[in-house]
Amino acid sequence: MAYKVGILGATGAVGQEIIRLLHERNFPIGELRLLASARSAGKTQSYGDQTWTIEETTPESFAGLDICIFSAGAGQSKMFAQEAVQRGCVVVDNSSAFRQDPDVPLVIPEINPDAVDGHKGILANPNCSTAISLMGLYPLHKAFGLKSFIASTYQAVSGSGAEGIVELEKQARAWAEGRPVSEMKKEVYPHQIAFNLLPHVDDFLDDGYTKEEMKMLNEGRKIMGLDDLKVTCTCVRVPVFRAHSISISAQFEKPVSVEAAREAIRHFDGAELVDNPAELEYPMPLNYSEVVPCGVGRIRKDSVFENGLALWVCGDQLWKGAALNAIQVAELLHTKGKL
Ligand code: A2P
Repeated sequence: MAYKVGILGATGAVGQEIIRLLHERNFPIGELRLLASARSAGKTQSYGDQTWTIEETTPESFAGLDICIFSAGAGQSKMFAQEAVQRGCVVVDNSSAFRQDPDVPLVIPEINPDAVDGHKGILANPNCSTAISLMGLYPLHKAFGLKSFIASTYQAVSGSGAEGIVELEKQARAWAEGRPVSEMKKEVYPHQIAFNLLPHVDDFLDDGYTKEEMKMLNEGRKIMGLDDLKVTCTCVRVPVFRAHSISISAQFEKPVSVEAAREAIRHFDGAELVDNPAELEYPMPLNYSEVVPCGVGRIRKDSVFENGLALWVCGDQLWKGAALNAIQVAELLHTKGKL
């Protein structure tokens, strides 16, 4: 069985990784259709010895497709997802548009694979920081029963798309050449991102949290099926190109031990234990760029929470945080005969 596959947002930072990973992971592609905005229509895209022409996205773009991975932002998802479904195309959506819709499964294949079973055409891919955090937290939840956690994220500029990467590059280059960075036009971030930290990812809400910070709570609850989970999150944009890191203090129902926590991580698909402080070994964003598993380390007893653990997780925002998880969802649908 080979599928007719589409990518909406094929020219973007995530779209480019989807093209690469679909091929590297040998997803059974019969035909590949690359969709973007009118700006990109007619341009070509190559991978290996194949070349495709980018098409402008219209409702008819989805006719004849079996599956399309959407990565062009929530606005495009809202505009086109139902159009695609009506034309018989399953949508795996990377945006936040449908994640809290009770009719839409929000899936991390290592955690809730059965959520895809009753899908109605649209499946949602989680927020990048949430997906990467849960690769450390979920195995600990299975071992000790997660009650609450406090997280601080260190989010790479890839999370703002190709333009975020360009903005950091331009500012870093200007700084290295001795040009005044503060006077440069800011296109993506409200403040300088090079050599700085912005405690601000996504829009602010009335209660002082950002939308991104609330995703950790709402998506964590939905994916792990934990309605009473409590989360406080601070999301920070950092001058790192593509892997996110998250510092977490978590409280559990049962007594915890560091060794049992390490064992739980070791046995969890998709996570890798790197926790050897004596040898200065811990996960870092540079080591978790273009890597499939997320790295988990710095596991220790939390000194504030009873039954608490502190940990550090790193993962590729463009991969587990977006393209890879979406393709794993597509692979799961294929394996379960749900495409
Ligand atoms: P385009 O390159 O034609 O603008 P990123 O998140 O890296 O910025 O990528 C965003 C992706 O979403 C790009 O592929 C972009 O295509 C696509 N996109 C943006 N606006 C539209 C639109 N109106 N219709 C279809 N695709 C869009």
